[in-house]
Amino acid sequence: MKVIFVIIIFGIGSFLVNDDLKESMQRGKKLYNVYCMACHMTNGDGMAGAFPPLAGSDYLMEDKKRSIKQILYGYSGPMVVNGITYNGNMDPFESLEDQQIADILNYIRNSWGNSSKIITAKQVKAERK
Ligand code: HEC
Repeated sequence: MKVIFVIIIFGIGSFLVNDDLKESMQRGKKLYNVYCMACHMTNGDGMAGAFPPLAGSDYLMEDKKRSIKQILYGYSGPMVVNGITYNGNMDPFESLEDQQIADILNYIRNSWGNSSKIITAKQVKAERK
C-alpha cells in the first residue's frame, strides 16, 4: 500500500515538473522570437560564419551557468561551437527579468533536438553580478 502511495505521489510530482517546463518553454519561445531570432534564426541554426547555432550546440549544452551569464552580460571574443570558431559579439540582455531569461533558456535548451532539465529564475538570479 505504501509503495503504491509513493508511486502516485512521485507520478504527480513529475507531471508538475513537466508542466512547468512546458509553460516556461512556451513563454520562452515568444521572447526568443522577439530578442534572439534575428541572429540565431527561427530553427536555431544561426548563420554560418556569423551567428553560432543553438540547435545541437555542444557549447550551449555544456555549461548552464556560462549560458546564463552570457545571455545576461553578452559576450565577445572567440568561442568554438560544434568545432567552428566564431569571433563575434553578442549584446547583453540583463534588462530582462530572471524568469524571462530562464524561459528563453528553457526554450533553446529543449528545442530543435536539444534536451535538458528546467532552469529556474532563482538559478538566473544567482549568476547576476
Ligand atoms: C545581433 C545578433 C544576436 C542576437 C540578437 C542574439 N545573439 Fe546570441 N550570439 C550572437 C553572436 C555573434 C554570438 C557569438 C559571440 C562570439 O563569437 O563571441 C552569440 C552566441 C550565443 C550563444 C553561445 C553560443 C552557442 O551557439 O551556443 C548563445 C547560447 C546565444 N548566443 C543565445 C542567444 C539568446 C538566447 C539570444 C536572445 C536573448 C541571443 N543569443 C541574441 C549574436 C546574437
